[in-house]
Amino acid sequence: MTSTVHRTMGQQSGRRSWAEPWKIKMVEPIKMIDRAGREAAMREAGYNTFLLRSEDVYIDLLTDSGTSAMSDRQWAGLMLGDEAYAGSRNFYRLEAAVQQYYGYKYVVPTHQGRGAEHLISQALIKAGDTVPGNMYFTTTRLHQELAGGTFVDVIIDEAHDPHNEHPFKGNIDLDKLEALIKQVGADRIPYISLAGTVNMAGGQPVSMANVKALRELCDRFGIRIYLDATRMVENAFFIQEREVGYADKPVAAILKEFCSYTDGAWMSAKKDSLVNIGGWLAMNHDDLFEKARNLVVIYEGLHTYGGMAGRDMEALAIGIEESVQDDYIRARIGQVRYLGELLTDWGIPIVQPVGGHAIFLDAKEIYAHISQDRFPAQTLAAQLYLDSGIRAMERGVVSAGRDPKTGEHRYPKLELVRLTIPRRVYTQAHMDVVAEAVKAVYDERQRVKGLDMVYEPAYLRFFQARFEPIS
Ligand code: F0G
Repeated sequence: MTSTVHRTMGQQSGRRSWAEPWKIKMVEPIKMIDRAGREAAMREAGYNTFLLRSEDVYIDLLTDSGTSAMSDRQWAGLMLGDEAYAGSRNFYRLEAAVQQYYGYKYVVPTHQGRGAEHLISQALIKAGDTVPGNMYFTTTRLHQELAGGTFVDVIIDEAHDPHNEHPFKGNIDLDKLEALIKQVGADRIPYISLAGTVNMAGGQPVSMANVKALRELCDRFGIRIYLDATRMVENAFFIQEREVGYADKPVAAILKEFCSYTDGAWMSAKKDSLVNIGGWLAMNHDDLFEKARNLVVIYEGLHTYGGMAGRDMEALAIGIEESVQDDYIRARIGQVRYLGELLTDWGIPIVQPVGGHAIFLDAKEIYAHISQDRFPAQTLAAQLYLDSGIRAMERGVVSAGRDPKTGEHRYPKLELVRLTIPRRVYTQAHMDVVAEAVKAVYDERQRVKGLDMVYEPAYLRFFQARFEPIS
């Protein structure tokens, strides 16, 4: 599959390549429709890649969420589904896997990540509360706001600079956090919303030193820490690679140590855990468990399935175990990095260092002539599809939405297009095709003028908004 030398992860001399620790057993045909077809499809989709039909997409880098290829063991696990309404044996397998690999005491299953975000937000946030975190995520922040909270970003400044090479750009700025705690009062902070890795910053990790120091600070003020563990296995890999003292520790041990400094976690299992659907909320404290176990039956399903089928929970339990294998995670991040290095070599501005799950193109720099209210990243994602049928995602002003108080656009410093790599799905040849397409769009950048937004839904507008090209 992977034939050429990988420049940072393989050996430098004598051409010794690395390759994925798996081979392909089943394939799904894909095709590129012609230019006229792509133009028609993009128009029909209102220049929003979320509104394209998958059939019209050649290489789909919209998201790494629910798009992984499952292993033969996971497919075999689907046949072992115990579809009992209550007490399915697959739930106990899932619970044991979360306890073993993430280390939390209690597990409440949910249909996906935002189901768990809903439960924790409703259980812990009161009107007027402040929720500090390391950069917002779209659904996470919305659930915090809907529960009456205000999210405040306390990530380090380096995270907002796509050129800054800080190895742990996901870190919390502890001075910013302490000042915020003193300003609003510890009793108005229900928990710290800590994500590893940080999606909107470019898939950037949090260091072990940072979470340890965060724990000490929070203990001083009696504040809990809850982790968005969606891509925490990838975060653990970066700790192994970059942080002193962790080079010889398995990713599984690093993951568990990191989680031990937090009080619980929510999870979109559709990412790290190599399944197409699923999630959970886990915690060590009885009070949150009691509340979440009660809320889950209102919104998701009984507390032993939470919106998943028994077979989904079995595939997830197996996926958790596969996701923490060192050779797997090295190959996963190696593929993302391969694409990043090609683009970097060609001078295309991307967020550095390359993160865990995606390459983030710097649309602000690529389309320096397009102002942010003409949606440079939305425009770039549309151009990439028009060029070559590749689907990417806007992560800029459209994703940031409007300030609930002022109603104005929130203008994030980062105006990015995410090329998100599904796990175990595409080959190195696909990555070459993607890099060449990005280069072609980059070379044509001066011809493009931006978009007008012609339809805007009330919540999470990036999913359904419609646009028209400015002529
Ligand atoms: N937290 C993070 C960091 C995420 O990236 C996502 C989803 C969620 C929570 C919500 O989980 O989708 O299972 O409800 N991110 C997807 C993405 C949608 O494409 O980045 P969900």
